[in-house]
Amino acid sequence: MNTSVETKTSSPLAFFGGPKAIQSDPKDLHNWPIITEEDEKAVLESLRAGNMSDWDITVEFEKEFAAWQGTKHALTYTNGTAAILATLFGFNLSAGDEVIVPSMTYWASALPALSLGLVPVLADIEADSLCLDPDSFETHITEHTKAVVVVHTMGHPADMDRIMAIANKHDLKVLEDVSHAQGGLYKGKKLGTMGHAGAASLMSGKSLVAGEAGVLWTNDQEIYDRAVAWGHYNRFTPDITTENLRHLAGLPIGGVKGRLVQLASALGRTQLRHYDERCEEIRKSTNYFWDLLEGVPGLRAHRIQTENSNMAGWYAAHGHYRTEELEGLSLTRFAEAVKAEGGYIIPGCNLPLHLHPLLTETDIYGHGSPTRQFFARRDVTQPKGSLPVSETIGAKVYNIPRLIRFYPELIEEQAAAYRKVAVNYKELLADDPGDPETLGAWSQTFAK
Ligand SMILES: Cc1ncc(COP(=O)(O)O)c(C=O)c1O
Repeated sequence: MNTSVETKTSSPLAFFGGPKAIQSDPKDLHNWPIITEEDEKAVLESLRAGNMSDWDITVEFEKEFAAWQGTKHALTYTNGTAAILATLFGFNLSAGDEVIVPSMTYWASALPALSLGLVPVLADIEADSLCLDPDSFETHITEHTKAVVVVHTMGHPADMDRIMAIANKHDLKVLEDVSHAQGGLYKGKKLGTMGHAGAASLMSGKSLVAGEAGVLWTNDQEIYDRAVAWGHYNRFTPDITTENLRHLAGLPIGGVKGRLVQLASALGRTQLRHYDERCEEIRKSTNYFWDLLEGVPGLRAHRIQTENSNMAGWYAAHGHYRTEELEGLSLTRFAEAVKAEGGYIIPGCNLPLHLHPLLTETDIYGHGSPTRQFFARRDVTQPKGSLPVSETIGAKVYNIPRLIRFYPELIEEQAAAYRKVAVNYKELLADDPGDPETLGAWSQTFAK
């Protein structure tokens, strides 16, 4: 470690009035998305041409996205939630079929299933990867299970070898929700190409940005055709390849409109051109941050070590917290002290979906009983205590700063804020307020 980092680490904690570990202007270290004149020009062209509701630019974006993703088809939707819904429709499931989803994820991985009369069944996550736990996945499979939504959480690839083996054994459709990990790799394979389809959000906070947008992709013609038919009525024509859809052409089967505003498609095209290169820099920066914190008690990186795998654009980068290595110091107090150093930290993650009243007790559509159970063919109760990792992970993880540019000295300062607090943790033990019962939010907001 260089001496300036050491000095910052050894001075009194800013929480008690000492100098802040972070003193420098961060410049554009955290700024995302990166918008250049190229983006502005592309968006303005569409704006000035007044073709916002056409789909010629959108189709170009989809072709380029599919080529980059390495799949036959890509199809945009208004947002990632809509893309997931259309993909699930693409799977051609039946009302009452169960779809397994990790409990700790953004709600849009799970809730669209309910709009199709499907039953989201939540499974637990792995404490290390924060992705779907293959054992819990398998435990939750019943004769009614027909699909699984796998999320590559916070950039970390899920254990696709095991998940695909289990899914294939039970003949399940696999949707990879790549909203946190566009372009990432798992054992040399692009995320979103191992299952039957992939889908992702492209909203402006995500790694790959098209403004407010979503996209799905697949090699399967029927999945693609059904996804088109769901909400792209203009593109749902009688020459559609899937024969049993032809007589419905012209109207959207879902009764929804999924067309993307072309300003977003134009932005998506320019962003995609630079995406891989930008992600490489983000990974270099974030890996450097974690390398600087290697061996610091209480702190562990959330990153994949498997060969030919990576953390994509490291969306919503998190770290692990080991309170037992800091004599039980709460994450809440730890985070207060990092913030006092001028550091960025948000404790917690998304809360476990299986405990939200929308899934446990709410009669959404007026059927006279809780909707999820009403749709199910068996008792799908998932009480508190049933998914222990998802229920307790909030107090064990925290969102770290977004490190977009590789500026070593600025990153050293960011790491020093964390290191200083961890090294001096004993001073924080007195009057520790402890953690609240839950840490996180139903839709956790991450670093911009
Ligand atoms: C894992 C995950 N899936 C789906 C979505 C939904 O995407 P959108 O917000 O574009 O609808 C998001 C985020 O927003 C997400 O984080």
